[in-house]
Amino acid sequence: MAAEGRHPIADFDHNSERHSADPVGSYRALRDVGPVAWSEHHGGYWILSDYRSVFEAARDDETFSSARTGDGGEGLSVVIPKTPMHFHIPIEIDPPEFRKWRKILNPITAPAAIERLERMVRYYVTWFIDDIIERGECDLANVIGVPSIVTVDWLGLDVADWKRYASAHHAVLAAVRGSAEWEQAVTVDLPYLEGRTREVIAARRAEPADDIISYLVQCEVDGRTITDDEVYSMVDLLLAGGVGTTASLVSNTVVWLYQHQDVRRRLIDDPGLIDKAIEEFLRYFSPTQGLARTVSQDTDFQGCPMKKGDRVLLAWASANRDPEQFDEPDQVDIERWPNRHTAFGIGVHRCAGSHLGRAMAKELLTQILHRMGDYVVDLEALEPYPHQGTNTGWQRIPATFTPGPRLLEDTPR
Ligand code: HEM
Repeated sequence: MAAEGRHPIADFDHNSERHSADPVGSYRALRDVGPVAWSEHHGGYWILSDYRSVFEAARDDETFSSARTGDGGEGLSVVIPKTPMHFHIPIEIDPPEFRKWRKILNPITAPAAIERLERMVRYYVTWFIDDIIERGECDLANVIGVPSIVTVDWLGLDVADWKRYASAHHAVLAAVRGSAEWEQAVTVDLPYLEGRTREVIAARRAEPADDIISYLVQCEVDGRTITDDEVYSMVDLLLAGGVGTTASLVSNTVVWLYQHQDVRRRLIDDPGLIDKAIEEFLRYFSPTQGLARTVSQDTDFQGCPMKKGDRVLLAWASANRDPEQFDEPDQVDIERWPNRHTAFGIGVHRCAGSHLGRAMAKELLTQILHRMGDYVVDLEALEPYPHQGTNTGWQRIPATFTPGPRLLEDTPR
């Protein structure tokens, strides 16, 4: 779409190699253009890059819709360009319809429900670290596979498939669109996994077990049981949300802590600092860098002429570095408080999995720091996600450390 009066125009593409090489610098340059700018890439889209604009748009669902429409192509509405993916509930539904769906997710993602999962999370983290602890060397990115296996197990999917779920969902967002890895995920792995997931949904409908899919198949909206297709739409979103984001957070954090050993020491010596530190790492790394909306009516937003159907990127990562909102935003202050970061989004679609994400990140970081706290990362051999437009992180983190004992026999699930 040509600019047609849309201004200011920025030379910006969050899917480009240039952006992936330095997302923080790229967003900083964009904020210098202005808080709202128009990019002509991907059919044209607005980018909101300061805290105030992101905050206001995320809270205005009437103007900035999350619904799946034909504007901007076919596929998942909350990314630019849209990616081929099954309709996701509730992230692609606007209020008021949205509320009845989110109500279904709230009880299973609330703090009390996540507390009940702590044992499972601890078991998997212990198991993954036990697997490498006697060797004294590993790829830390493999240890960070924990969020995927936890999500697969929690949902009630076949744990034997966890790696395939993890790599397919990772590739869709973190591989370069059109690359062999991306194509494999979109055309082979995701369709295969959809079949596997639907088999489990049908099986739980026939005979419920003690898992999230069994809960979902029994839920009702508007006085009727939800269909298998609707259950699939929720399960696939929970997978997409659970698999990549926490891994992105923890991978960035472990590398940064190796590069900042004074902070690593403080966290080892004073475990009570970890909760606030995680909030700061969420702000600083913004695992989900930005998500999209579609303008539902012509509007003037911060002096910019937006038209019905325009696509808009809400750059959570950039809002999190806005100096108007955060003192010294490019510094990590593990005791920063208050810390009203946007890493989990803002408004009605704010992350349903935030408590689970935090719990998994906390257990992973705690065990890594306490069981292999002298780890040395081979910085030369680090491999970043090839595409950092949606999730940032490291997919290979070779590390060495002083070997230690396995623990698993002491940690029953
Ligand atoms: C560090 C970890 C995580 C980060 C940074 C993150 C980030 C986000 C963000 C930014 C949104 C807002 C979407 C929007 O406004 O369009 C969101 C929504 C969502 N997330 Fe997360 N997420 C994380 C972990 C998880 C986990 C572990 C799960 C599930 C197991 C999950 C499930 C969801 C769901 C279901 C939504 C949609 C909520 C709705 O539409 O009402 N997330 N997440």
